[in-house]
Amino acid sequence: KPVLFSGMQPSSDSLQLGNYIGALSQWTKMQEDFDAFYCVVNLHAITVPQDPAELVARTRRTAAQYIAAGIDPAKSTLFVQSHVSAHAELAWVLNTLTGFGEAGRMTQFKDKSQRYGADSASVGLFTYPVLMAADILLYQANSVPVGEDQRQHVELTRDLATRFNSRFGDTFVVPEAQIAKGTAKVYDLQLPTAKMSKSAESEAGLIKVLDPANVTKKKIMRAVTDDEGEVRFDRDAKPGVSNLLTIYSVLAERTIDSIVDEYAGRGYGDLKKGLVEVVEGSLAPVRARTEELLADPAELDRLLAQGADRANEVANQTLSLVYERMGLLR
Ligand code: TYM
Repeated sequence: KPVLFSGMQPSSDSLQLGNYIGALSQWTKMQEDFDAFYCVVNLHAITVPQDPAELVARTRRTAAQYIAAGIDPAKSTLFVQSHVSAHAELAWVLNTLTGFGEAGRMTQFKDKSQRYGADSASVGLFTYPVLMAADILLYQANSVPVGEDQRQHVELTRDLATRFNSRFGDTFVVPEAQIAKGTAKVYDLQLPTAKMSKSAESEAGLIKVLDPANVTKKKIMRAVTDDEGEVRFDRDAKPGVSNLLTIYSVLAERTIDSIVDEYAGRGYGDLKKGLVEVVEGSLAPVRARTEELLADPAELDRLLAQGADRANEVANQTLSLVYERMGLLR
């Protein structure tokens, strides 16, 4: 089976709908056809300040949401990044092969460092994409299913793999980003030209997987639309309505055309009510299962330890090969 690697940051109490649609729902489908590694990337999370007790809780919560959404720890390798020290070790090696300018061109770093200010942005934030490359390359992943915002990081990963291979001999598989067309970017409900993000300034446009139904309903009913009043898909002219249609289409597994037909001649209020049902239908079971899993943290930790064993086995093999190729005395 080809190998797949992907991960999410435990940077919030709940995943948001963009994570769910752009990544998690693809992951659950792909685990059948791939030898899949799904990681909770807590070392990435600490590139910006985190409260230690919260980070522990959020790491478990994120893992629980993976399982609740359908990742099966018996089929896929589910683990926590800091349980596999090879990630930090390979990241160091790759740091030495990454150009300063090359890292500086990463748009996510530019955005985030602007938000935190040049002086409080950490060096860890700067080398964040290099750690991500280490994640992927350790498992010789062929495929990396992510949302659009991670495309540039996977490109860097490919460049680093190719560079290492040509300098030190064939070592890494050069991975491909797998970015699902149409669902690669879910937008903020209040600002439908910006991506939905856990770190958005306001939570009003953010649908959280673990929010209670009435909160989600309120957010959807208040989503920004336009004053044309016609339900149709037009990303440029009607970003709000188009975003609602996209979310509807992915979660209901229906084409956008069939939804537009259903709501033809009806108002946005009806579309939103329909969407509330669809979103609740998808998220309610995930929420319930997450709570069940969190009620037994010992069992959750056991599953994660089991995943870490398998991940360590694979990752350490690659790391040994890298050290040997580079001339690091063993
Ligand atoms: P993170 O935690 O920001 O997001 C996790 C996944 O969700 C996708 N995503 C979205 N997709 C569609 N619309 C949105 N609004 C939206 N918001 C987030 C992201 O593209 C991502 O796939 N750097 C990564 C984590 C990471 C990783 C890796 C991913 C670390 N190492 C190795 C893949 C492979 C990140 O911060 O994702």
